[in-house]
Amino acid sequence: MTSNHIPILFGSCRQNANTPGVAAWVTSRFNQKLPASSPLTLSPADSLLEKLPLGPVTDPMMAAMIQSSSRYQDQAVRAWSDFISASPAVVIVTPQYNWGYPGQIKNALDHLYHEWHAKPILLVTFGGHGGSKAAEQLEQVLTGGLKMEYVGNVQITLPRNFITAQERAKTDSDFLKAYEGEMDDAIINLLNIIAARKSA
Ligand SMILES: Cc1cc2nc3c(=O)[nH]c(=O)nc-3n(C[C@H](O)[C@H](O)[C@H](O)COP(=O)(O)O)c2cc1C
Repeated sequence: MTSNHIPILFGSCRQNANTPGVAAWVTSRFNQKLPASSPLTLSPADSLLEKLPLGPVTDPMMAAMIQSSSRYQDQAVRAWSDFISASPAVVIVTPQYNWGYPGQIKNALDHLYHEWHAKPILLVTFGGHGGSKAAEQLEQVLTGGLKMEYVGNVQITLPRNFITAQERAKTDSDFLKAYEGEMDDAIINLLNIIAARKSA
């Protein structure tokens, strides 16, 4: 069954993190671009992920061998599988960590396999230089490893005081205005891909 809910996967769960603010900004751009008649919604999957005991991958059968969620041993992974299978697309909002992407993203991805195939994925990365290294590595995983349909990547450079001091990204943060055009174009691409699939 297909849902109208596009989940946002967070790359960071730190206290006082920038990720929720960047994700709120992405959501506000999405809602502005969404046609009034569209039933689609975009919101974080974190509350769902936090409830799940998604630790290390423990299933004895690798996900690539599993074609039905009922074959996963862990109920939490079955729920994750059904949730992702039903999603029309996925958005990842993640910082760069130590020249890579945070382990929690890889962990959430590796529990599943076929569920990701051909799923449209929009990637928003950020950091001192747009999270470019995290984006490059994630793109390989998402397209090569998981065969997702890569919609694009918006790279956001955080001002220094948002990294080393207490300022945190918000929907109306000034520095995000420079990325509005690029973000809107990526969202329109995503919406067009979803619409084309629905009418196919
Ligand atoms: C563990 C860790 C590693 C980081 N590594 C990088 C890095 O490689 N490149 C970079 O530009 N910023 C790096 N930063 C700075 C982050 O981009 C910045 O702190 C960002 O706000 C982290 O996202 P968050 O606040 O949502 O957790 C790192 C931050 C943390 C906490």
